[in-house]
Amino acid sequence: MAASPGALDLHMPASAVSGVVPQALRGGRLLSNGPGWTRIGDRTAHPFDGHGYVRAFAFDDDGGCHLRARFVNTPSYRAEAEAGRLMHRGFATNLGQPFWRNIGFGPPRNVANTTIQRWQGRLLAGWEAGAPYALDAASLETLGEEHFGGAIAGQATLAHFKRDALQRRLVCCSIRNGRQTRFTFREVNAAGSVEVVRAVSIDGMLFTHDFAITPSSYVIGGNPLRIKPAEIVKMLLGTSTLLRSVEPDLSRPGVLHLVPRGETGPVRTVKLPGTAFVVHFANAFEHGGALVVDAAVFSRFSFGEEFCYTGPSTPFDPSLPDARGPQRLMRIRIPAGSDTATWTPLSAHGVDFPRFHPDHEGHETPALFGATRRNTQYSDPFDSLIRVDLLDRERPSMLWTAPADVFVGEPVFVPDAERPNAGHILAILSDGIANRTTLAIFDALALDAGPIAAIAMPLLPIAFHGDWDGAPIGG
Ligand SMILES: [Fe+2]
Repeated sequence: MAASPGALDLHMPASAVSGVVPQALRGGRLLSNGPGWTRIGDRTAHPFDGHGYVRAFAFDDDGGCHLRARFVNTPSYRAEAEAGRLMHRGFATNLGQPFWRNIGFGPPRNVANTTIQRWQGRLLAGWEAGAPYALDAASLETLGEEHFGGAIAGQATLAHFKRDALQRRLVCCSIRNGRQTRFTFREVNAAGSVEVVRAVSIDGMLFTHDFAITPSSYVIGGNPLRIKPAEIVKMLLGTSTLLRSVEPDLSRPGVLHLVPRGETGPVRTVKLPGTAFVVHFANAFEHGGALVVDAAVFSRFSFGEEFCYTGPSTPFDPSLPDARGPQRLMRIRIPAGSDTATWTPLSAHGVDFPRFHPDHEGHETPALFGATRRNTQYSDPFDSLIRVDLLDRERPSMLWTAPADVFVGEPVFVPDAERPNAGHILAILSDGIANRTTLAIFDALALDAGPIAAIAMPLLPIAFHGDWDGAPIGG
């Protein structure tokens, strides 16, 4: 991964675009967030701990594109930019020598590096276990932590939010881990007020990165964690990390927990047919009394080597075999009143970063898109994009594979205003050998035909999640 690229303002005129940027995208922006600065002093931070670097790829009316990129100005970013070395421990990153700099453990640094989305004229840069940072929509200048009127101040809030388009609400989830895991769901209305609060406690220490919603439920994965006592001691002594102090407990079949959306009602725990560790959900919806959940399910999972991380003293290694995967995109069906689910795979490929029509969250949607690997035995680093038809399940998936040594990121779907099945896919392609990043635009209904437009630029750091901003800047 490249060293810190710093703030960028880069204009790529229409003449530099291969193909033509579709009219439907002009005036909008692809937003993207990820760990922009991971080689800090003489140490490599785990990508989870790299400083958030927000990118906005704005399509001009004349067919060109303007990239604006800024670091999220968190306290740990400021401290480390000034000192030129790691100053705060992270989930998976310790400071350099001497070891006693790492003794004890406070909350890991919030680097606001995981998600980015529009909300009320601002952008929210989310992180795994803290408040999101609000950014000015146009300048990307950091405004400060967003607490939704104090509701989530001091709480470990997930980076993944859900947008209920019908109710115009943003749903967020805060978590407190212990012998039980406490989940607090809050629904923020379009005026910025918290309208619904639902808190539940579930036995066990659970790993949660994402959740799904339907009109009547919040859906969470029952991903049990086991503590590794020796690693906890080492972590407290400064020689291990929080991420290495826990491990998935895959000795039992997986479960999902269905929390009634609203303020009352018991939690339903539903058994899955096999081992399951759910990191990303795709969508969930209700169908004739049954609940349908589409999720990327791991049956083998470990922590520590995500996104090709090989330790603090070495660079990232994209050839590293993934010990976790491949994750399978599963359709999980829970009959009305039942505590047992069935499931069927939606693809033979390992799929992650599932995306779909942004207004269909919690409702049936015609297709899912994801990042995948042509070789079905592996998952990330991803070399392909996939479209899975959910209306015609007999129809083969569409697959597009990038050129050799090019990795693909999350595909963001921009729906056509009139036809929900049609639209465009935007994906960021990374070529570390040619030192080039390409923003590729696909016709969503002909994904396998390859990009209809491609915009090349100098290599950018990897990104995690993005969002489409079709509103005028600042709107
Ligand atoms: Fe995620």
